[in-house]
Amino acid sequence: LNSDTATLHTDGIPQDMLVKVGKYLEPFSLSVEKLQEVSAQLQKDMIQGLGKYTHHRASVKMLPTFVRATPDGTEKGDFLALDLGGTNFRVLHVRVMEEEQKVLKMNSQICAIPQEIMLGTGEQLFDHIAECLSEFLDSQKLKQQTLPLGFTFSFPCEQKEIDKSILIHWTKGFNCSGVEGEDVVKLLKEAIHRRGDYDIGSVAMVNDTVGTMMSCGYRDRSCEIGMIIGTGTNACYMEEMNNVKRVEGEEGRMCINTEWGGFGDDGSLGDILTEFDKVVDKTSINPGVHIFEKMISGMYLGEVVRLVLIKLTEEKLLFKGEASAALFTPGKFETRFISEIEEPDSGLKNAKQILTKLNLKWDLVDAHVVRLVCDTVSSRSARLCAAALATIANRIRLNRGLDYLKTTVGVDGTVYRKHPNFSEELQAAVRLLAPKCDIKFLVSEDGSGKGAAMVTAVAQRLALQSRL
Ligand code: GLC
Repeated sequence: LNSDTATLHTDGIPQDMLVKVGKYLEPFSLSVEKLQEVSAQLQKDMIQGLGKYTHHRASVKMLPTFVRATPDGTEKGDFLALDLGGTNFRVLHVRVMEEEQKVLKMNSQICAIPQEIMLGTGEQLFDHIAECLSEFLDSQKLKQQTLPLGFTFSFPCEQKEIDKSILIHWTKGFNCSGVEGEDVVKLLKEAIHRRGDYDIGSVAMVNDTVGTMMSCGYRDRSCEIGMIIGTGTNACYMEEMNNVKRVEGEEGRMCINTEWGGFGDDGSLGDILTEFDKVVDKTSINPGVHIFEKMISGMYLGEVVRLVLIKLTEEKLLFKGEASAALFTPGKFETRFISEIEEPDSGLKNAKQILTKLNLKWDLVDAHVVRLVCDTVSSRSARLCAAALATIANRIRLNRGLDYLKTTVGVDGTVYRKHPNFSEELQAAVRLLAPKCDIKFLVSEDGSGKGAAMVTAVAQRLALQSRL
């Protein structure tokens, strides 16, 4: 395997076996030069996304968020937050405390969203959300108050204002009818009014990346990038207004939701896509959409590994050529298995348990090979993310005419948090790809909940200031 890539777990695999398996894993190994090419392409696509006359055909959408400032520490008050689009749907009550410069989660509740609703009608989805919120307000005795609400809605939206947000298309596992092309705030308010048992105050729409950036921003004022590597992947950052051609005004900055998951949707990543990536895309509920995301995020990594394992079994390089029904079943190789199998101490033991659970007849070499496959797929994910993050950091540095940029990125997401060495690998590759940037990584504590409240609070502060 290419030594230019990250160090992979190759121990326990005889040399001749390694050569044979390596042939199938080679397409996943991306050299630093290749990552630089990926970064250069992304940079071009970002400029296209920002342009007034080019954005409509851009695969990287670069969506204005109408978030013009990060917290300044004077925000305060009580807020509700909704968080839809990650692993769970949540409702939260959040308090922003000026004196202590703290954001407190007073209480929160998780509501399951059944698959029928994820794939049902928009009306069903928003009725369900309004019902969860109603139950939460009852349990917190908040129904009589009309609190402002931050809605973390983690899908690509064309925002017209902070409280007007049109869904471009669903991503990840959602596909509710009648929502694409509609204003999500309107759909939420209509559902609440249909019930008639409570009301909400002003609404701020927030992408999870923006919430993550803002929640870190209260602790660290230089936090001006937000990144998610979870079910999906995406990032936002503070762009100079004079580069945001689609919004009037030249002064100051605005947060841009890059929707980098869509990178490659125009075919630009064709030369690094493997046969496995192509199958993952084709068999997904949204073929052709979010190609970059499908190489990186938690919703897809397990599938990539599963397909590689099937291939190696067919080539008689695993399990003596015998697969199992479970291995042939989409979704059965969960992304969390990758993290478990790569654990430094218990990894091999976990691999054996998982393979047994999947009804596979493994031997010790098989367990080692499976570990190598997981390592290969997760390393590629970390390095692609690094290339994308480096592109943003380099852009911010050049925007500001700096020789050296010191900045902070707020991060969240199950893949980043749970994988044993994903963050290290990502950070090491970013250092190579953005040598003139010193990037601090801050894991966001409840970004999409507290961050949504923060966005709402900042919007209120700005509205108040402009009235004075
Ligand atoms: C998907 C969504 C994006 C979100 C990301 C992480 O890429 O399109 O809006 O930020 O997932 O949740």
